[in-house]
Amino acid sequence: MSAPRILATGRCLPARVVTNEDLSRRVDTSDEWVFSRTGIHSRHFCAGETGLELAEGAARQGLERAGLTPAEVGVCLVGTFTPDFASPSMACLLQQRLGLPEDTLCFDLNAACAGFLYGMKTAHALLPDAPRPYALLVGCEVISRVLDMDDRNTCVLFGDGAGAAVLCRDEAGGWHTVFGSRGDPQSIWVQGPGQEPAAVHMDGKNVFRFAVEVVEGSIRQLLAAEGLDSVNDLDLVVCHQANARIIDHVAKKLRAREGLFYKNMDRYGNTSAASIPIALDELSQAGALRPGMRLVTVGFGGGLTWAGALLRW
Ligand code: ACO
Repeated sequence: MSAPRILATGRCLPARVVTNEDLSRRVDTSDEWVFSRTGIHSRHFCAGETGLELAEGAARQGLERAGLTPAEVGVCLVGTFTPDFASPSMACLLQQRLGLPEDTLCFDLNAACAGFLYGMKTAHALLPDAPRPYALLVGCEVISRVLDMDDRNTCVLFGDGAGAAVLCRDEAGGWHTVFGSRGDPQSIWVQGPGQEPAAVHMDGKNVFRFAVEVVEGSIRQLLAAEGLDSVNDLDLVVCHQANARIIDHVAKKLRAREGLFYKNMDRYGNTSAASIPIALDELSQAGALRPGMRLVTVGFGGGLTWAGALLRW
């Protein structure tokens, strides 16, 4: 059995911070309403920065912390549903910016908010045949470019940002994964090119029900695969940071101890494919992730898609 090992992480957020208070000057909302229903106080929105700049910032940090140069990367994947262009991919743009070798496997994947974990699975599968043994995996979103800033149902929920992880294969390691998708064009959908105006549409209650079902189910499956009785046998759970109430609901159903489920959406909102690597980077920089720690991470979102992994840090 082998597993992907995260050697280092990085993150990059746009400079502009937009609070709920700021949004309440444009739409009929309040910090009290948004925070009590989502756990979000503020988010970063791009004001001129491109997705590529965010991806590059996060990637350079990750590579530097891993002690690697771009010349050592064999796979470059970007998880995103808000790329700068339909083509070239963000991964190819990043290849040019970083100077990754020409034989690097570069492509984007769209599994919405589960994109980082789909990317980890893909990178792990590609590495044995890749020209070099390291993968650069970036979750990068500029969701503000597809938000209707006059729609209070959605504009308060999301944020922009990028998170990166540098991976290698640990041939002696083990991990467990859960993946799923449920073709559903109604619960969350985003206008594509030529469908104006750009906007995210969401049936919030449906998404909430879906999220708590698949997050709880995925964690239970991962615990069973590892032979664990309780979520409290884990060191940490890092879920996609869509909504604090989704996480609290699952934590309660699993009788999790206080603080086991990490939350940072108060400062970032929902950054889709970027949310898990941003959270991992925050935790790693705070010294909260130590070698050997056993953690579960779960992503879920548009598609509908979901993915979970139980891994060792
Ligand atoms: N400020 C004030 N009022 C608002 C706002 C707002 N920002 N947004 C909606 N409302 C109003 C609605 O207009 C509605 O008013 P009405 O009764 O007069 O029509 C009222 O609040 C209730 O609306 P609901 O949609 O029923 O509110 P709900 O309590 O369900 O909360 C929310 C909405 C927060 C979106 C909730 O459904 C939720 O958390 N869903 C999960 C969504 C999510 O996390 N999505 C992201 C995951 S998927 C992904 O990551 C891509």
